[in-house]
Order: sequence, then C-alpha cells, then structure tokens
Amino acid sequence: MEILLLGGTAFLGRHIAVAAAARGHEVTCVARGSNPAPDGIELVVADRDEDQGLAPVGGHHWDAVIDVSRQPGQVRRAVRDLHCSHWVFVSSGNVYADFSALEQDERSAVRAPLEGDVMEDMSSYGESKVACEAAIRSAGSSSTIVRSGLIGGPDDDSGRSGYWPWRFAHSTGDDVIVPDDPGFPCAMIDVRDLAAWIVSAAEQRLDGVFNATGPTISLGEVLAVSAQAARSQVPARPVPAARLAELGVGCWMGPASLPLWIDKPDWRGFATLDTTRARANGLVTRPLLDTLRDALAYENRRGGARRTGLDDAEERRVRAALDGNI
Ligand SMILES: NC(=O)c1ccc[n+]([C@@H]2O[C@H](COP(=O)([O-])OP(=O)(O)OC[C@H]3O[C@@H](n4cnc5c(N)ncnc54)[C@H](OP(=O)(O)O)[C@@H]3O)[C@@H](O)[C@H]2O)c1
Repeated sequence: MEILLLGGTAFLGRHIAVAAAARGHEVTCVARGSNPAPDGIELVVADRDEDQGLAPVGGHHWDAVIDVSRQPGQVRRAVRDLHCSHWVFVSSGNVYADFSALEQDERSAVRAPLEGDVMEDMSSYGESKVACEAAIRSAGSSSTIVRSGLIGGPDDDSGRSGYWPWRFAHSTGDDVIVPDDPGFPCAMIDVRDLAAWIVSAAEQRLDGVFNATGPTISLGEVLAVSAQAARSQVPARPVPAARLAELGVGCWMGPASLPLWIDKPDWRGFATLDTTRARANGLVTRPLLDTLRDALAYENRRGGARRTGLDDAEERRVRAALDGNI
C-alpha cells in the first residue's frame, strides 16, 4: 500500500511509520521537519497550518492516509485536499464527556466539538478531537477512528510510562513515594502494539470507531510491575492524597507529579476503556511488564530527563517532610 502519514516524526507516528515499512508498505511522512523521519522513510516538509500546506501531497491517490493531528483546521484541510481510499485518525479517550465510569465503550456520549479551526491549549483537547473525528467522518471514504488511551513504552518522552520503573530503579532513599490509592484504575497501551494495530486497520480498511488501550489494572499492580521491571526491592511508601497536595505534589503528569493517578472522584474511569471492539478486530496488547521494562530502558538512555514525576530533589524533600525533618 501507499500510505501517507500526516506526522510520523514524533512518538506514535514514528512507530507507525516503522511498523508500516516493516510490513512492506511505501510510507510518506508529512511534518514541518522538527525531527527527521525514521531511516529510509520519505519526509515531505510542509506546514499544515497553511491553507495550501498539503499541496505537495495532494495530487496523488493514496491507499490510506493516517493522521495524528489535534487541530480541527488541519484535519478539515486534509480531508478537503487529499485523495485516498481509507482514513485512519488517531483520536483519544479524552473525547468522552464523563470520566467517572470505568471502561466506557464507543457508544458513550462525547463532548461538544470545538468550534473553529484551532485548539488554543490542551484544556479543549477532547473537544478538539471530537471536531477532528467529525471532519474525518465527513470524508466520504471508509475511516478508522482510534480512540487511544495512555500510550506508553519506549520513546514515551512524556515520562508517564517510564516514571515508576525509573523511580524504583533509581530510588532516592529507603522507599518510593506513591499515592495511597492502590485501587486507582489504570490502563496503558504499548506504542508498538497501537502502531501495529493502526497499520492493520489501514490494511483492512476497518470502518468505525474503536477504543484502544491495555487491560484495566490497579495502580497497586502498576507499582508492583514497575518494581519488577526495575528488579527493585525498595518498598513503596503510600502517602494520602491530602498530604501530597499539602506538599505540592500533583497527579497524572507534569513536573512534581505522581503519574498515572488522578485525585478526583469524577475522573476515576479516565484511563480505562472498553476495547472489546478493537480486540475483536485484531488488537493484541503485550504484558505490561514488557512495556515498562522498555520504558525504563528508554529513561535510562536519556538519563531520566522527564517532564513528569518527582525529580530526585523533590522526592527527598517530600520524604524529609513526611519524616518531620523539615
Ligand atoms: N501520548 C498519549 O498518551 C496519547 C494518548 C491518546 C491519544 N494520543 C494521540 O496520539 C497521537 C500521538 O501522535 P505522536 O506521538 O506522533 O505525536 P505528536 O506530537 O502529536 O506528533 C505531531 C506530528 O505532527 C507534526 N506536526 C505538528 N504540527 C504540524 C504542522 N503544523 N504541519 C505539519 N506537521 C505538523 C509533527 O512534526 P513537526 O513538529 O516537525 O511538524 C509530528 O510529526 C496524537 O494524535 C495524540 O493526540 C496520545
């Protein structure tokens, strides 16, 4: 197949490009060129924020176009200007209107679509993806809409999948500071499994909306598997949410946070998705241990320079405060 990949130079897109090329497809990536395409894969440098940005790839009929955009205007212009037999759009579980229920399926209510072409900031990410999905569905050809949960594994530069294995592997004291919420429902999908399934969805021209993530497991299990991935015997030190908040520790992602956990009753279902439909159509996910081991190897390669989690000094400060030493 001739596949046009709108993106392909960042985390998931690179894995899609590599997986598609490994299956013998001819892949062309489109990006502004902040990073190179994977070795041996063509990159067309173009800016999709320009009205005619996709002109260099618009005169060809593609077997499939795969898009990872977050911006409705970019997706609308792609649908307007490109010719293909099948679309794959990488959306997100953030489209759902309510995050309190666990394992929502694809029929659950979604947010109102973002009005306008540009998502100004991530606070309207879900709404923006809803608008992107609508643009893809208006294309007239078949389309796979992939509502992905948290993506983890090697090259996860957000640091969310790498934090816990890294922290157990590089402890700053006699324990690892964790949220006292072992039952918090977690799920993640390995970037390689998601990429492989996206390529197979393009090959099969799967039509419809599909949730994609790994099985639901508890935060306690994630921590245990992280310690196993790190071959660590260091015990976890559970700290109540209110105490963490007092100490300036946040949740989910970003600096000074404890990732994969959210201290909001209305968000307990956020990470989890019902993936029955994708699994019935070929989605296979590897054991979490493999994902976390490879996320740790990636963190080790980059020296733990993450945007997410407690850095060493912060974890020591939190422990000292809990011990009453500051
Ligand atoms: N990470 C997660 O846990 C998670 C969870 C659910 C869903 N998702 C979704 O999964 C996808 C992840 O994609 P990704 O990892 O490949 O990362 P990404 O950071 O979304 O990649 C964006 C790609 O598009 C290109 N791009 C950005 N602006 C452009 C422009 N104006 N013109 C042309 N190209 C442009 C970028 O390259 P240049 O910057 O060089 O242009 C890059 O190749 C996204 O759709 C995201 O919403 C992610």
